Amino acid sequence: MTKTERLEQIKADIIAQNICPNLAKTAKQLVFGHGNPNANIVFIGEAPGKKEDATGEPFVGAAGVFLNTMLASIQLSRTDTYITNIVKYRPPDNRDPSKEEKEAFMPFLFEQMDVIEPTIIITLGRHSTACFIPDMQISEIHGQPMEVNVTASGITRHWTILPLYHPAAALYNGGLRSTLLNDFQNILPFITKKQNL
Ligand code: URA
Repeated sequence: MTKTERLEQIKADIIAQNICPNLAKTAKQLVFGHGNPNANIVFIGEAPGKKEDATGEPFVGAAGVFLNTMLASIQLSRTDTYITNIVKYRPPDNRDPSKEEKEAFMPFLFEQMDVIEPTIIITLGRHSTACFIPDMQISEIHGQPMEVNVTASGITRHWTILPLYHPAAALYNGGLRSTLLNDFQNILPFITKKQNL
């Protein structure tokens, strides 16, 4: 199977296994992930918002516009990356996803990462970061690449995580805009191989 076919299979598994049926009921659609399955760089947000729910693509609303600006600041576009969320259905009224909802989607997220095999996983915001680095303060660790071992279903994965503030936070707190743009520079050393777009 190609990487695209393997990703399609994971998406089909989420639907077949009826993961988070209450969220599935209120959401318009599953927002699985978008971008280049051969990407070195994966971004992981929290959960889809209204626009993502309507279009089926992650980070297409206001936070996504700022994400595009940050990508352009390091000469990347969305098609050089793969973008997804921990939780794949929009929570009603954009409430925070619960611990149970995040845990329910984690095995599928790990499978997505197993297919893409990125050089670096960039977690956007504290919800996403906490799934890989528990008990952290995003204010203390943002912008610093970290090596982590995550064991789930008997499989230990070794990943490099770069935790960042969530781009939406910069929409409410203008001071975080320059912090995020600075932190984005730390992605540059991980852009190692020419990608097959
Ligand atoms: N915020 C997220 O965390 N993910 C999206 O896809 C959009 C906004």
